[in-house]
Amino acid sequence: MLKQVTKQLALQGVRTFSVGQQNNYKVTVCGAAGGIGQPLSLLLKQNPLVTDLALYDIVHTPGVAADLSHIDTKSKTAGFIGADQLGDSLKGSDVVVIPAGVPRKPGMTRDDLFNVNAGIIKDISNSIAKNCPKALVAIITNPVNTCVPIAAEILKKAGVYDPKRLFGVSTLDVVRARAFIGHALGVDPQTVQIPVIGGHSGVTILPVLSQSQPLFKGNQDTIEKLTVRIQEAGTEVVKAKAGAGSATLSMAYAGARFAGSLLKGLNGEKNVIECSYVQSTVTEATFFSTPLVLGKNGVQENLGLPKLNDYEKKLLEAAIPELKKNIQKGIDFANA
Ligand code: NAD
Ligand code: LMR
Repeated sequence: MLKQVTKQLALQGVRTFSVGQQNNYKVTVCGAAGGIGQPLSLLLKQNPLVTDLALYDIVHTPGVAADLSHIDTKSKTAGFIGADQLGDSLKGSDVVVIPAGVPRKPGMTRDDLFNVNAGIIKDISNSIAKNCPKALVAIITNPVNTCVPIAAEILKKAGVYDPKRLFGVSTLDVVRARAFIGHALGVDPQTVQIPVIGGHSGVTILPVLSQSQPLFKGNQDTIEKLTVRIQEAGTEVVKAKAGAGSATLSMAYAGARFAGSLLKGLNGEKNVIECSYVQSTVTEATFFSTPLVLGKNGVQENLGLPKLNDYEKKLLEAAIPELKKNIQKGIDFANA
């Protein structure tokens, strides 16, 4: 019953507020000097729920922090540079957003980033376990499908893992689907509702077009083309940037939206719903993105699989083995 009411409210765009809001949260961005980190930090500096913005990176954060600190919003900005300062950047954090790590170049898959990025996620997760074990942690770093299980295993080893507090950020897939559908239908993309489930790479990205509102009408060929475009949208940007990296600005927008939703949930706002890649029992894959209700402790309720048509069921069948492989790779790495 709660599920139905919540879904209905969400589809209508209804947002209700509770009393007793706190309005002062510390957010740490790990990788804050990067292509995503800088615009993401700029957007977070403008979020009224943030009072402390900690910017951590292995380079350039004193300058980024000094620059952002001149913006006339209430949050205090501080820069932390190098592994010695990671712990201080995390102490007392309510939300940690992680875009630290290398991006793709043309011809690479997200999985090709594993060798460098897995170690970065391991180190940051160890420090989170020591310095802010109750924080909500949002991982942007690729391969997301593998980095989130790595973080889970590290937090488990430290005895502080709470599956409700660890998220892989797949919001950009939803943002893209809304943009493409909105422009195709000639409606404001902000009014489009669409669940994108599964993981965050190729065939594991499953846009549930049959559930989009307004409905994306088209023949099977049009639907398949749009599905593949959403699945391959990251590669579209990597190719267009021709060696200069992957999506940064749209990712900063998506990351700020997701972090903002985590903060709204923490702050007691009701019916905050986002798709995110979390520990899950919804399918055979032990991590899977579905729409979630966010609350004071992170995941308040997993809304489960949306209704799928036969084509989408086939997409799900294709996604599961790939996801399971990606997840196992992360578990093996963390336990090696
Ligand atoms: P970038 O190279 O521009 O920035 C990465 C930043 O991470 C750099 O400032 C670098 O100094 C920093 N860094 C490296 N090692 C670090 C460490 N040990 N601790 C802290 N910071 C460290 O790359 P980018 O374009 O910002 O992309 C970052 C990551 O986000 C990539 O892995 C990319 O694939 C991923 N990404 C994910 C999504 C998504 O939808 N989840 C979208 C776009 C990009
Ligand atoms: C994206 O979807 O844009 C990111 O995952 C970056 C990439 O490598 O495609």
